[in-house]
Amino acid sequence: MGPEWTQRLATVYGDEAVEAQQRRYEEAINAFRELYGPGPVAVCRCPGRVNLIGEHTDYNNGFCLPAPLDRDVLLLVRPRSDHQVSLLNIESEQFSPRRFTLSEEIPSGPPGDWGNYARGAGQKLWQVFGPLRGFDGLVVSRPPYGVPRGAGVSSSTALTVVTAIALAHINSLNVPTEQLAQICSEAEWYVGTRGGILDQFATMLGRQGHALFLDCQPQINEDGTRHYPTELVPLLEDYTLVLVDSKVRHSHTTGGYNVRVTECRLGTACLAAHYPEVHTLRDVQSLPWEELSPLLPEEATLDDLEAMGIDVAAWLGDLRIAPDIRLKLRARSRHVYTENQRVLDSVTALRRGDASAMGRLINKAHESLRDDYEVSCPEIETLRDIIMDVEGVLGARMVGGGWGGCVVSLVEAGHEEAFSEQVAPAYEQATGHTPDVFVCRTSEGAGVAIETEC
Ligand code: GLA
Repeated sequence: MGPEWTQRLATVYGDEAVEAQQRRYEEAINAFRELYGPGPVAVCRCPGRVNLIGEHTDYNNGFCLPAPLDRDVLLLVRPRSDHQVSLLNIESEQFSPRRFTLSEEIPSGPPGDWGNYARGAGQKLWQVFGPLRGFDGLVVSRPPYGVPRGAGVSSSTALTVVTAIALAHINSLNVPTEQLAQICSEAEWYVGTRGGILDQFATMLGRQGHALFLDCQPQINEDGTRHYPTELVPLLEDYTLVLVDSKVRHSHTTGGYNVRVTECRLGTACLAAHYPEVHTLRDVQSLPWEELSPLLPEEATLDDLEAMGIDVAAWLGDLRIAPDIRLKLRARSRHVYTENQRVLDSVTALRRGDASAMGRLINKAHESLRDDYEVSCPEIETLRDIIMDVEGVLGARMVGGGWGGCVVSLVEAGHEEAFSEQVAPAYEQATGHTPDVFVCRTSEGAGVAIETEC
């Protein structure tokens, strides 16, 4: 492994991580060679992400503040001359091989199938760019360097994005990163979740040592394409973000997430009945909440909304939810409205280096997710209560879509070890789940890390 590798890995992960990553990359490349034989190989990567604040705002065209983690999915690839994609996983016992043919419409595997994320990327890129060559690939994302799965740090996005990066590379597509990030966010709809752009932008446009202030309200370019403003904001020095994985797993594809998306769209519909220029919850951000609140029913079914004269079908598009669900439009909209403001305040706090203010905002965000958005769960609450009692913790909140996954905490540097010693056993005793505690370091956004012969 030459000095250019060392240099490259230092740029991606930081100097202190180079040695361990070199070993990891060598092992991965050797495994690829054993499976596919000697020849060229490109190592593509996509990190997981932590969102400091700005949860469930992205699909409402709001603000978020994520950062790319040093935990990443590697996809080692070699081009094929046909349209086939062969996917092996180094964790072969849990993830058996997948093979599919790229096309405009790739048949899906069963819900939850790990190959679906790659299929979604392949189908979307084909639709946008036309016929593509496939690849022989090996996915490497095992602990301790891989992206924890189902933990709210975007493991599924990482798989979608890394496939898109590989296909773009192999087919010399030369797509600007922002455009590819937009394409990847729509690629993920393939699995049935109507996510926003947070994860794809965080993992592709994020940078080491920074949070990415992302405005999900697109500006429309002259040629009709969209541009999402972003800005890199340095993370606080002397403070660490610590993630604790509750080991409670969500499944977005089973519907709770899409119900929240529905509630936001229909909340917007109620507001649009009074303010015709409103198309998303972001469009009411400049109005006082007291004016908006009475326009939003506390609870309503789809039938109630129809009776109010709202064209439910038009607002929902292809979203489908059970018709008898009581939708809490006021509380959900209030979360989005207050969360957007918290993101703006957080950017100010980071710029000023005001860690206490950042901690308070993180705590408020959690309360809002728990009470107004109702996406927490008992284990996450237990975990957070334990964390809030630890010395040096300024704030803690659930991250990601919800119903399990991780809690992120803002911790004064030097307290990380005591944090881990205190939180892990207390949580295990309370819930029976053995948590994973990891100190967040950041890395560069997704890309082709290394090209070599093996
Ligand atoms: C999931 C989605 C994101 C975002 C978050 C909640 O991670 O994939 O687009 O909506 O939930 O903030």
